[in-house]
Amino acid sequence: MRVLVTGGAGYIGSHTVLQLLQEGHEVSIADNFSNSSPESVRRVTSLAERSVVLRNVDLLNQADLNAMFQDIQPEAVIHFAGLKAVGESVAQPLKYYRNNVTGTLNLLESMESVGCRTLVFSSSATVYGESTALPLVESTPRSATNPYGRTKLHIEEMLEELAASDGRWSIANLRYFNPVGAHESGLIGEDPQGIPNNLMPYVAQVAIGRREKVGVFGGDYPTADGTGVRDYIHVIDLAAGHLAALDYLQESKGAHTWNLGTGAGSSVLEVIDAFARVSGQPVAYEIVDRRPGDVAENYANAEKARLDLGWKAERGLEQMVEDMWRWQKMNPTGFDEIPASEMTDEELAEFLGS
Ligand code: NAD
Ligand code: UFG
Repeated sequence: MRVLVTGGAGYIGSHTVLQLLQEGHEVSIADNFSNSSPESVRRVTSLAERSVVLRNVDLLNQADLNAMFQDIQPEAVIHFAGLKAVGESVAQPLKYYRNNVTGTLNLLESMESVGCRTLVFSSSATVYGESTALPLVESTPRSATNPYGRTKLHIEEMLEELAASDGRWSIANLRYFNPVGAHESGLIGEDPQGIPNNLMPYVAQVAIGRREKVGVFGGDYPTADGTGVRDYIHVIDLAAGHLAALDYLQESKGAHTWNLGTGAGSSVLEVIDAFARVSGQPVAYEIVDRRPGDVAENYANAEKARLDLGWKAERGLEQMVEDMWRWQKMNPTGFDEIPASEMTDEELAEFLGS
């Protein structure tokens, strides 16, 4: 299939593009490199020994987006492009609504313009808000606790309304739990800018010596060891879920929603222990105040994805940590900084060819 991937240079996008290429799909990527580097795409093409079309396209630029759709005529879209930092979304809500909601609206209009109506969307377990009914099933009522989460919720609703209005659309809302890990080659992985917001990249940076110690946000939650519990999912399993959803959409119209998680939770201290064990490095930590807005515990019921898609997460915490550690060791400061937001499509093509 000709698949257009928005945000394909990013963390989850790059791992998914690799699998698409390995499965024989023709891939094109639209990314503005606001949180990524074309180096990830270069490494993906070298791992897959296949080429991709990489365009410097901002979803907020409808003309550029339309031109790309006219050119590529994709049969399906996987939509990763979005901003994802919860704290930043509280400080700058309009930036999040503009980028995530307007960006998606533009994308849907570009899709319509070429009659492409198959879409896989990166949603998030954040749409379960502060729900305490565990495990979380797709029918759990949605809510949002911050602007980032509300953009995901609005987009899910927009997609459902679109599918209800026109029976030609096939849409998958994939609700990711906590994606971690990296490709086993150690060549691609998550490269957070500045101080990581998320636990696993923070722990990795402590293990490699870039940061002193992990602040554990709360030690008095009603969980087995008092620290927060999350459903960590290996990014390779998560990527595979997108290919399974794409297959399903070939046979099925309408809007569908699936949780992508393992179904099991790990605590903050379990993650720190696993990292120290695998890396052989001490991981210092200190229990500090709870982070506002965090829930004690959160994990998926992933049965629906298993039944409908034949998909199931296969990698456990140990492997997530091993792969994350390999990536961290091989790329202690992430991808080299390349001023890609200024690069033309010709320069990008040349860069990938080099
Ligand atoms: P990421 O930041 O690594 O990737 C997002 C990509 O989108 C980046 O390459 C960025 O440059 C690009 N982008 C952003 N705005 C754009 C725009 N207007 N035009 C073109 N490109 C744009 O993030 P990720 O972790 O790979 O997440 C991918 C998607 O999954 C996001 O939508 C995110 O909200 C969602 N998600 C992520 C997590 C997580 O913990 N990583 C959890 C749940 C959902
Ligand atoms: N934590 C710490 N110290 C840190 C960072 C995190 O103790 O430095 C704890 C948190 O309190 C939580 C756990 O580690 O208990 C996981 O926190 P993350 O920030 O890694 O992940 P969250 O579950 O808070 O949020 C992530 C994404 C959201 C997404 C959500 C959906 O960041 O965007 O998963 O499941 F919405």
